[in-house]
Amino acid sequence: MKRVLSGIQPSGQLHIGNYFGMMSRMIQYQEQNELYCFIVDYHALTTINNRELLQSNTLNAAMDFLALGLDPDKSIFWIQSDVPQVTELTWLLSTVTGMGLLERATSYKDKTSRGISPNVGLFSYPILMAADILCFGGDVVPVGKDQKQHLEMTRDIAQRFNKIYGNVFVVPDADINKSLQLIPGIDGQKMSKSYGNDIPIFANEKIIRKRIMSITTDSTQIDEPKDKNTPLFQIYSLFLNENEKKELASRYDRPGLRYGDVKKELADRVIDFFQPYREKREYLENHMDYVKKVLKDGAEKASFTADKYLTKARTAMGLNYAK
Ligand code: TRP
Repeated sequence: MKRVLSGIQPSGQLHIGNYFGMMSRMIQYQEQNELYCFIVDYHALTTINNRELLQSNTLNAAMDFLALGLDPDKSIFWIQSDVPQVTELTWLLSTVTGMGLLERATSYKDKTSRGISPNVGLFSYPILMAADILCFGGDVVPVGKDQKQHLEMTRDIAQRFNKIYGNVFVVPDADINKSLQLIPGIDGQKMSKSYGNDIPIFANEKIIRKRIMSITTDSTQIDEPKDKNTPLFQIYSLFLNENEKKELASRYDRPGLRYGDVKKELADRVIDFFQPYREKREYLENHMDYVKKVLKDGAEKASFTADKYLTKARTAMGLNYAK
């Protein structure tokens, strides 16, 4: 049995890019594997410095995950900062991490080029992420394509540590869904809350419809065939099985297709798809005690595993004086 592990940023309302990139796959994995899943509020602190916002985003992300089918009886689910051992491991790992490795991080370069003035935490974000994974012995890490480089960095850090201090850490494999390209947002760039181009899973119907109706399309005329390498087609495809996808493709190839009609169909589809989860989401919102209990139990279990790896690392480095 593999240990499958991943974390998600509590960046406000989670969107369908989060769902198809990571959440739905984690939920599938829980059936046959040992699942470790957490909400990365320490990471969120690199960009959010507002207590109320951080707390509500974190709990909302937890409720979203549970509503979408993460089952606390089949997984260990917690909030990152409830297992603070990862921050100690971050320090230990930072001493075997080269500056050059971090300087090459494209995600950091992206964020700073969009005008975020970086704090040290943002720069060392990948080391905290490595600690998240190595502290629990994750074998397989399902992530969206945008996290590929971070996973390579985790592997580098683990290998380097193991080489210096002996075999302490599991070197994890990234699990990136090959059939999915980066999930585009309504403007065709990568879907991201921070670009304002996302389709949130649990927003009210009106907002979801509005977002979908404003997906960027080209000015191809009705009587011409349409380009399928475009955000409307790609987003719609996420919700279709193979046959339905072929059908949509052939509608794109034939004259007569109106983008407006496709958008309306897609909006109905998205709303129907998430409808059952929406009811569960509402239930959870009215049962916060249950949600908090799940997270507390999860943190206790995760803590047990974290202690094990942290002790091994400390011992390997020569740090356990009093024991
Ligand atoms: N950086 C990841 C993202 O933005 C979130 C994350 C933090 C993560 N720690 C992790 C993902 C550990 C996988 C494993 O999506």
